[in-house]
Amino acid sequence: MTYDFTTTHKRFHTGSGKWNTLLQYGLTEDTDIIPFSVADMEFTTAPEIADALKHAIDSSVIGYAGPTANYLDSVCSWMKTRHNWDAKPEWILNTHGVVDAFFEAVKAFTNPGDGVMLLTPVYHPMYMAVNFTGRKLVESSLVSTGTRYEIDFADFERKASDPSVKLLILCSPHNPVGRVWTREELTRIGNICLKNHVLVVSDEIHADLVMPGHAHTVFASISEEFADNCLVLTAPSKTFNIAGLQTSNIFIPNDELRAKYLDELKLTNPMPTCGILGYVASEAAYTYCAQWLDECLKVIDENRRIIADFMADELPQVKVYDLEGTYLLWLDMNGLGIDYRELERINREEARLFFDEGYIFGKQGEGFERWNIACPKRYIHDALSRMKLSYTKHIR
Ligand SMILES: Cc1ncc(COP(=O)(O)O)c(C=O)c1O
Repeated sequence: MTYDFTTTHKRFHTGSGKWNTLLQYGLTEDTDIIPFSVADMEFTTAPEIADALKHAIDSSVIGYAGPTANYLDSVCSWMKTRHNWDAKPEWILNTHGVVDAFFEAVKAFTNPGDGVMLLTPVYHPMYMAVNFTGRKLVESSLVSTGTRYEIDFADFERKASDPSVKLLILCSPHNPVGRVWTREELTRIGNICLKNHVLVVSDEIHADLVMPGHAHTVFASISEEFADNCLVLTAPSKTFNIAGLQTSNIFIPNDELRAKYLDELKLTNPMPTCGILGYVASEAAYTYCAQWLDECLKVIDENRRIIADFMADELPQVKVYDLEGTYLLWLDMNGLGIDYRELERINREEARLFFDEGYIFGKQGEGFERWNIACPKRYIHDALSRMKLSYTKHIR
């Protein structure tokens, strides 16, 4: 490995959302607890990104910013080389995050009372984008085959054909179940949405985090008709672990949709752009950090294998779902015979582990844990032995 994926960082009092949450739960910084929750990585920043940020701070002025031509080229080149998608710089609008972006999309393209579809269980802020804006939540539950989840297309089509349904927020790859939707699945989704005049908001923030043997397909790359009926939400934040810089790229190939979306963004900010350091770091990441990402994916895949092997040998009651994409492993703990609320307590108080509880992603997630495995291996090994020790006392 060229890069550092082993140094551990205690991030208490650094402003880290993930680590600060531990303090809110009454855990002190002396507690030997490992947070595997919020989706940022525990890896050291790629040196190319750190250097670009230092250079910008040392040599320029931290003023208001907008995307430069070089910045936009770096984003589009990444889409071409990594995803074989010919995206145009003029399709891009910037928001301070993908969550902001799908909230704005719901507001721009639907009215209160309209139906918004989600494939559930799903990333919890997507429910908020529907519920907080007074839209109607229309869920199509994913179906587990035991090792992975699939779309119930009959149910999906029935729900999409309700004329009140105007928009689908697609999570692609899917957080939390770790699916990378295949081209065929996306084509079926897209055709159903076209037929029923449902706009697709494709959240592809995890697009670059794909495991060996799987390939991400950009929704808009499938056909011109799909490109005309979608927004593609991307960011370098998950890929390169720079979420704190709040920079995302929203691709809207359809001119009318883009103009309407921009009008909505302007209601909160007449000049919607990101911060200068976000642009600097993102350009450096997309230009220089492909190798960092490849090594990072290797570490994530090794972590996945370590956990899957351990569970098979030592805790076979725990079912580990295939991880096709994202770094968020989905584990079914129901086989332990422990009530999910009690399991949450055991994890935090006895094992000293802090996962994202499956139930926050929807009712189907009860008894599941979402484990953020983008961290140095030491944390993984440590967690596994703590789980074995603690769960063995409670297994029924
Ligand atoms: C599917 C998905 N979308 C969006 C986000 C967050 O996006 P942002 O930080 O750009 O608002 C996450 C973070 O975990 C995510 O998993």
